[in-house]
Amino acid sequence: MIYFASRTGNVRSIIGRLSLPHAEIQRHTVVQEPFLLFTYTDGLGEVPELVSGFMERNSELCKGIIVSGNRNYGHALFALAGDKLNEQYSIPIVCKMDLRGKETDDEQIQKYYERVIRNENLS
Ligand SMILES: Cc1cc2nc3c(=O)[nH]c(=O)nc-3n(C[C@H](O)[C@H](O)[C@H](O)COP(=O)(O)O)c2cc1C
Repeated sequence: MIYFASRTGNVRSIIGRLSLPHAEIQRHTVVQEPFLLFTYTDGLGEVPELVSGFMERNSELCKGIIVSGNRNYGHALFALAGDKLNEQYSIPIVCKMDLRGKETDDEQIQKYYERVIRNENLS
C-alpha cells in the first residue's frame, strides 16, 4: 500500500498512473501493514502537518518515502520534506520527484514496491 497526501493534485496524478495499491491519508489514519509514504513538500521545505501526524502514529511500518517538490525552490529546499522524515525516522528515500516527475521515477517506485512491500507481505 502507498499512503499519500496531495494538496494541488501532483501527487494524486502520479498515484493515478502508477497502478499500485494506494489510500489517501486522513486525519486519523492508522495503518496495519507495511507501506510507502508519498508526500509533497510544504512551506519552506516543511513536512505537511497532516503527514507529520500520520508519521507519528505509523512510522514503524513505513518502509520508504516518496516525495514531490519543485526544483524552483532551489537545491537546499527541493523536496526537503523527504530528507526531514528520513533524518527523523531513518527511513530510506525511494524517489524525489520534481512536480509530477517522469517515467524513470515511476519505474524506480514500481521496482522498490515489488522488492520491499510485496516481499514483506509474503513473509
Ligand atoms: C505553499 C507551497 C510551498 C512549497 N514549498 C516547497 C519547498 O519548500 N520545496 C519544494 O521542493 N517544493 C515546494 N512546494 C512545491 C510542492 O511540493 C510541489 O508542487 C508538489 O508537487 C505539490 O504536490 P501536490 O500537488 O500533490 O500537493 C511548495 C508548494 C506550495 C504551494
